[in-house]
Amino acid sequence: MTKIFAHRGYSGKYPENTLKSFKKAIDYGAQGIETDVQMSRDGELILIHDEKIDRTSNGTGYVFNMSYNELLELDFGEWKRKKFRGEKIPKLSELLELVQDKNIELNLEIKNNIIHYPNIEEKIITLISDFQMEDRVIISSFNHESVLKCKSINKKIRCGPLTYSNLINPHKYINEYKFDTFHPMYRSLDSEKIQVLKNNGTPIYTYTVDIKEEMNFLIKNGIEGIITNEIEIALSCLINQ
Ligand code: G3P
Ligand code: CA
Repeated sequence: MTKIFAHRGYSGKYPENTLKSFKKAIDYGAQGIETDVQMSRDGELILIHDEKIDRTSNGTGYVFNMSYNELLELDFGEWKRKKFRGEKIPKLSELLELVQDKNIELNLEIKNNIIHYPNIEEKIITLISDFQMEDRVIISSFNHESVLKCKSINKKIRCGPLTYSNLINPHKYINEYKFDTFHPMYRSLDSEKIQVLKNNGTPIYTYTVDIKEEMNFLIKNGIEGIITNEIEIALSCLINQ
């Protein structure tokens, strides 16, 4: 059965990658949450999509240049709408705490394809293990070396590559590097590709699907995970299949 993953939380309606957007995703019934992990100057694992804070906060500058306390002083809600003023940048540990006693899966995307955060993989995996959530977390990244590093640190955690473009034989790539999951952009998939991957035993978590017809197509084809900003639409597609 397909699971609906809230992309950066319920970011269609709430400020992305905030505790509010994660809580709302859970309230509305998403089965999973996708989020982006980066690291502050002083080594705190934090959840934010862009390498700079400018678009989603009232501050400016690179995430890696700022301490956690400096980030904490900023507002990460008001850019979306005035009424969301007061939202803070969340730590990964806060999200793990939030979902720990709930039936929610997490897809953690390590955002390290542009900025390389030293030992971010070890830190993330240690935290997941501390929370005993190895079986509920899937790690992905556009930095495939980083994905492989995660796998080599802890084999129990599912890990897979994110791709933008149309790989000719994705199942061969997946098999060669022994990835557990595959995270393609949805436009790069068709029924045949999905079937080949399914026959290969590779679970597919595809992004970022906000169009109803595309959601229905993917659900019909037995995709494991749809990552979407529009969880209410996706959940209604799931119910009406
Ligand atoms: O995990 C899939 C998706 O989130 C990747 O794209 O840019 O939204 O992080 P982006
Ligand atoms: Ca992401």
